[in-house]
Amino acid sequence: MNPDYVKIFDTTLRDGEQCPGAAMSEDEKIEIALHLAKMKVDVIEAGFPISSPVQFQAVERIAREIEGPIIAGLARAMRADIESAGRAIAPAKRKRIHTFIASSPIHMKHKLGKNPTEVLEMARQAVRISRDLVEDVEFSAEDGTRSEWEFLRELTEAVIEEGATTINIPDTVGYTTPEEYGKLFEFLKQNVKGADKVIFSAHCHNDLGLAVANSLSAIINGARQVECTINGIGERAGNTAMEEIAMALRTRKDFFGIETNLETTHIARASYLVKTITGMVVQPNKAIVGANAFAHESGIHQDGVIKNRETYEIMKPESIGLKSNRMVLGRHSGRAGFKERIVKLGFDPKAEDLDAAYQRFLEIADRKKEIFDEDLLALFSDEVRRSDSDQFQLVSFEIKTGTDSIPTATIKIKISDQIREETSKGDGPVDAIFNSIDLATGHSPLLSRLLISPVTEGADALAEASVTLENSGKRVVGKASSTDIIEACALAYINALNRL
Ligand code: KIV
Ligand code: ZN
Repeated sequence: MNPDYVKIFDTTLRDGEQCPGAAMSEDEKIEIALHLAKMKVDVIEAGFPISSPVQFQAVERIAREIEGPIIAGLARAMRADIESAGRAIAPAKRKRIHTFIASSPIHMKHKLGKNPTEVLEMARQAVRISRDLVEDVEFSAEDGTRSEWEFLRELTEAVIEEGATTINIPDTVGYTTPEEYGKLFEFLKQNVKGADKVIFSAHCHNDLGLAVANSLSAIINGARQVECTINGIGERAGNTAMEEIAMALRTRKDFFGIETNLETTHIARASYLVKTITGMVVQPNKAIVGANAFAHESGIHQDGVIKNRETYEIMKPESIGLKSNRMVLGRHSGRAGFKERIVKLGFDPKAEDLDAAYQRFLEIADRKKEIFDEDLLALFSDEVRRSDSDQFQLVSFEIKTGTDSIPTATIKIKISDQIREETSKGDGPVDAIFNSIDLATGHSPLLSRLLISPVTEGADALAEASVTLENSGKRVVGKASSTDIIEACALAYINALNRL
């Protein structure tokens, strides 16, 4: 193992998915996993197989279909969990069981009802059972940062003896600080027998906004795996953001002297994918992937950047897969230029999706002067989501609204081969259009979330709508974009209905 190389362990599909509202369908997980493989992450934690049949199936499918990264399945330190994880990851060429048990006094006493000796024995056994199934076994000491260091030393030494190959020290509740976390890694690396045979791993939560700083400190002190998620999604305040870690190590290679294997030019698309699939918006000022991350607003900054980009830019937008001036195409752009840009953005377009997306691009280019990379990402993703076999298709709609009138929507929807027209009122134009869609389709699912966000800036910007619907225990997210906000909402609602 190259000592100057840190492995990227992506847990977007496991810890990321655990955050409220981020549940993904199996196909969506595959889409993300394919992209993670393209980015060359080292490990994909695909899920927690024992937690449900749906989780099991998704992990198994990822293990079967995704090549390149190691596929990991999570398991508590229990035989049934470990065997389930072992079965789910079995089809993968490169596989890992990730088993964990809590090691802090508060977790051991109140959550597990076990004493340290019992926890130590459970950890030993878990690693032993895992090693009977696979060679690559990661052990995590949950709530590691609130554990007693001497117990952590004893515990990690024991699991290394049993054959664990990666030792992860999670900051489960986002409690530690960079200096303290760094010292903990230094302590373990110096005092655990067998430490030189394993890889130490950092896993941080962002409750105090320190996840990335803590992970970097662990790396400085010897961690050679970092667990992270795209856009930093995850429980509560989220996990370490992969894009921030990767770009910090890359931009400050002079300081850290450590590399990752990540293809950073796929970061923008990864961020977009996770944002649209989970419906979890990215704040505009978010480091690396926020809409404003490379935007220069003040006159002094703009002037400096025009004279020399490096005056105010420490990274190039191209390094994460965005075009430098962000404006890429316009009304006169040809199909070849359009396709080239779509491929550069990380898509592998099918001919029919490309044709349909190009037609929509031309329509949008008539309404919108400048088409940015972000617009293309939205537009092409719409095409990939849409299918000719969709049961419901929007034909047209009309809205009447105003300060003195009740918002009313009339919609025409193609259902199989018939067109149905319905009119309905609502609390606002979006409510009215959703009501009219319910009437036309004969469905009235529960709308549990609606998010509308502009893709770029300006009054002519594309708006992206994400609609979460629930029906009979099933939950789906529908998405769509348009320069017309109401149309984006209607299309997203119909997209969700088709998926239901
Ligand atoms: O935060 C945590 O402790 C975890 C473990 C299961 C690794 O996610
Ligand atoms: Zn976690």
